[in-house]
Amino acid sequence: MSAEIIDGFMIAKGYRERLALEVEKFVAEHGVRPVIRVLLVGDNPASLSYIKGKVKAAAEIGIDSEVLRYEPSITEAELLAEIERINQNPAIHGILVQLPLPKHIDEHKVGLAVDPMKDIDGFHPVNQGNSLAGNWCLESCTPKGVIALLDTIGCDLNGKKVVVIGRSNIVGKPVSVLALNRNATVTICHSRTQNLAEEARQADVLIVAIGQPKFVGADFVKPGAVVIDVGISRTAENKLVGDVDFDSVKEVAGWITPVPRGVGPMTIAMLMQNAFEAMTKQIS
Ligand code: GUN
Repeated sequence: MSAEIIDGFMIAKGYRERLALEVEKFVAEHGVRPVIRVLLVGDNPASLSYIKGKVKAAAEIGIDSEVLRYEPSITEAELLAEIERINQNPAIHGILVQLPLPKHIDEHKVGLAVDPMKDIDGFHPVNQGNSLAGNWCLESCTPKGVIALLDTIGCDLNGKKVVVIGRSNIVGKPVSVLALNRNATVTICHSRTQNLAEEARQADVLIVAIGQPKFVGADFVKPGAVVIDVGISRTAENKLVGDVDFDSVKEVAGWITPVPRGVGPMTIAMLMQNAFEAMTKQIS
């Protein structure tokens, strides 16, 4: 039997629509609307396209967003000063520095400069550390989106065996922590893992984030498992594909996310959710 397809596009739309209602209710009651600023250095076409999606989503939800653009020649010190200026402005609740940055700017230093309470990407080590400790924090958007997808299909992680393939700081590690915080038994696999397919086959929920097109085949999947594909790559034919070989895995899995229209749309929805949460924390 073929797996149920998890429609991330529609699920993200639902999150954005519910958030829009919450924002309007908040504005009516408190007279304050979330305000975010996106900092873009240079004109990387992929960054411009991502930012367009973020700005459009913000406008639809009722979040005030503006893109602050800087010449690629901006110095690291100048960019850090800009971040500090926004950190100090109480009328701005969220900051996002679009990555990648030019080579002469240290991304780690820039990430550390963002006020953790305004870090709507959820990349700051203070937020990552609070997530690890099980405290409230601004969670990284893609991992938060993965958990939201699981919530939406009614997949309760309590006691489940979750296998994560990939250990990046932006997906593999933080999504493992979120699953652990929900009482899953979590195994993190990576390029040095032995018997990878066998490890993956233990999973009730398999989360794949390695950036290798169609790496995960049907032999990695326990019948009926939930398979979440975070990967997104372009083939030589310019087609978007995930890390999971969708056509073969869908014949084994119980649930599966497609690429595109899977995890991707959830990232922006969760970014907007973080903007709202950042604002409510700052004004309370
Ligand atoms: N560049 C590509 N994806 C992202 C993202 O989620 N956040 C930021 N800040 N930059 C990115």
